[in-house]
Amino acid sequence: MKILITGGAGFIGSNFVLYMIKNYPSYEIINVDALTYAGNLENLRTIEHHSNHKFVKADIANRSELEPLFEQGFDAVINFAAESHVDRSILHPEIFVQTNILGTQTLLDLSKQYHVLKFVQVSTDEVYGTLGETGLFTEDTPIAPNSPYSASKAGADLLVRAYHETFGLNVNITRCSNNYGPYQFPEKLIPLMIQNALQDKPLPVYGDGLNVRDWLYVEDHCSAIDLVLHKGSAGEVYNVGGRNERNNLQVVRTILEELGKPESLISYVKDRLGHDRRYAIDADKIRHELGWQPKFNYEDGIKETIRWYLGNTEWMAQVASGTYQQYYETQYKDR
Ligand code: NAD
Ligand code: DAU
Repeated sequence: MKILITGGAGFIGSNFVLYMIKNYPSYEIINVDALTYAGNLENLRTIEHHSNHKFVKADIANRSELEPLFEQGFDAVINFAAESHVDRSILHPEIFVQTNILGTQTLLDLSKQYHVLKFVQVSTDEVYGTLGETGLFTEDTPIAPNSPYSASKAGADLLVRAYHETFGLNVNITRCSNNYGPYQFPEKLIPLMIQNALQDKPLPVYGDGLNVRDWLYVEDHCSAIDLVLHKGSAGEVYNVGGRNERNNLQVVRTILEELGKPESLISYVKDRLGHDRRYAIDADKIRHELGWQPKFNYEDGIKETIRWYLGNTEWMAQVASGTYQQYYETQYKDR
């Protein structure tokens, strides 16, 4: 197979590229990434010289940069590229529309024109909005996004659906819950809290800290996308999640405990605007129809993740320098 992977220098994309090179060494992978603040070629250092991995710096919303690549012909396109952080979408929604909606539409159009056999859109459970105390998101839950980020991802999902219905493009959409693991940028809850705890800095918990997320180790997300790529039925949506619901305070306390740091580092700060209260995924469809099984339980996964950050302090120092510091100061200054 010859596959175009977009966003393959980001957190999940780079984990997926490494997973594919390990599990399908004969596949040819073209990895397109614009290398925004979130993209980092260090994540791909171990496969730098691999003959079946080729990195191309390009913007998914720029048709003229992408067209020469599509002219080579791809069996599949897997779209991870996105602006992915909710807080940033509250500060600057326009780039989310540009990349997440226009970028996806550009990829869909080129996939149609160059007869790509399968298009996989990596979406998110956030398109369903928020849950109350009980219940789970299924694939039939109505789309009801609450942040500019999730609205832009929902817009992309609808375009993917439309390219299937109108043009017969063979598409799948995956909607996964919160991922954690190696190479996650420290603007996200888990790496941010690990980084701050290691430096004895306050851990900024939004609101009452009782918002719930359904955590999945990134490698389990990769194995789900692998199954969807190879076995997904045309036009279908698949939810992905491991039934590991934790509120934010529970997550933060586990990190403090593992690192031997005091709870006094927890600092309650102003809540995120439009903060979704609870996400939880019903993944029965992908389990039963495609045979997906997550391998990692949350307790082991979080320990493994903390160990990874402890062993990769240089990586952390490198990504947390420069523009990250500016973002951090703006984001947490008035909270
Ligand atoms: P990330 O922010 O770590 O990585 C995004 C990557 O996309 C970066 O490498 C960035 O350089 C690249 N990119 C951004 N704009 C681009 C553009 N215009 N053209 C080309 N490349 C561009 O994000 P992530 O957490 O790895 O998420 C990857 C995908 O998975 C996203 O589509 C996100 O919506 C989805 N998702 C994430 C999670 C999660 O918990 N992180 C859960 C479910 C779904
Ligand atoms: O559910 C999937 C989504 O998960 C993905 O689509 C997004 O790309 C990804 O960023 C993630 O979104 P969240 O908003 O859930 O993740 P984040 O790590 O930003 O926040 C997790 C929870 O922690 C959320 O309730 C907000 C809270 N939080 C976050 C930060 C950064 C804090 O309390 N303090 C913080 O400093």
